[in-house]
Amino acid sequence: MTYPFLRANGISKRFGALAALTGVDLDINSGEVLALLGDNGAGKSTFVKILAGAHAQSDGELLVEGKPVTFSSPKDAAGSGIATIFQELALSENLSIAENVFLGRELKHSVLGIPFLRRTEMRDRVDALLHELDAHISDPEAPVGSLSGGQRQAVAICRALNLNARLVIMDEPTAALAVAETRKVLSLTRRLAERGCAVVLISHNIADVFEVADRMVVFRRGRKVAERRRQDTTPEEIVSLITGAHPDVRALENKQ
Ligand SMILES: Nc1ncnc2c1ncn2[C@@H]1O[C@H](COP(=O)(O)OP(=O)(O)O)[C@@H](O)[C@H]1O
Ligand SMILES: [Mg+2]
Repeated sequence: MTYPFLRANGISKRFGALAALTGVDLDINSGEVLALLGDNGAGKSTFVKILAGAHAQSDGELLVEGKPVTFSSPKDAAGSGIATIFQELALSENLSIAENVFLGRELKHSVLGIPFLRRTEMRDRVDALLHELDAHISDPEAPVGSLSGGQRQAVAICRALNLNARLVIMDEPTAALAVAETRKVLSLTRRLAERGCAVVLISHNIADVFEVADRMVVFRRGRKVAERRRQDTTPEEIVSLITGAHPDVRALENKQ
């Protein structure tokens, strides 16, 4: 029996009287890019925040490789191999790329009780990761403040990989990027999946999603209304699922 990396069973989330999510069932597989689509307010960010340990669900359960897990903080989720890259990347502008990748978990050794950073080792590790991601960043010692938006995404992805992430969640990673930069981030996304990571990508851009996603899930008003493999759908169908014009969604919403 093989398990999906992560399974969500009947996840609901209420904020007071508002039902932000209702009964979401979803499997997330290793080696796959899964796109989460939906209009503003559909519940996408709330759902991934639950996966990331930033919100507790009101109902339902999460299983990692078949075992039930409870996350009370992002640290717990990280301990299960789940890393989230939010739109606000939380990188330190004045620190180098390598320092950002290792922030909070620097490699150290101690001489006569005095801690020293193992700088060369950290730099080499970051250099290898950037290479593996084909990120086109030549100097891990460069300050993050000097990088473009796409390069910053690459640094955030390196940080996730350095934490041995097995599921990387990206919430609108290309929203603020120019076209060329978007291309780069999309290819990083593919490379993560090829490396065996599970990837969840939230994006408004249907063309981007069709370029990288193996599977697409559509949320509407807090419910999962559709799930399609890329080869079984079209951009037109996905748009009609998002807007609710699709007959399947109309039938579903008439029953509610
Ligand atoms: N912290 C919060 N407190 C109250 N309501 C929230 C909170 N976060 C999200 N919501 C509400 O939950 C719903 C889903 O929001 P969200 O998950 O951000 O949607 P999406 O990411 O798909 O645009 C919206 O109605 C939003 O206003
Ligand atoms: Mg959102």
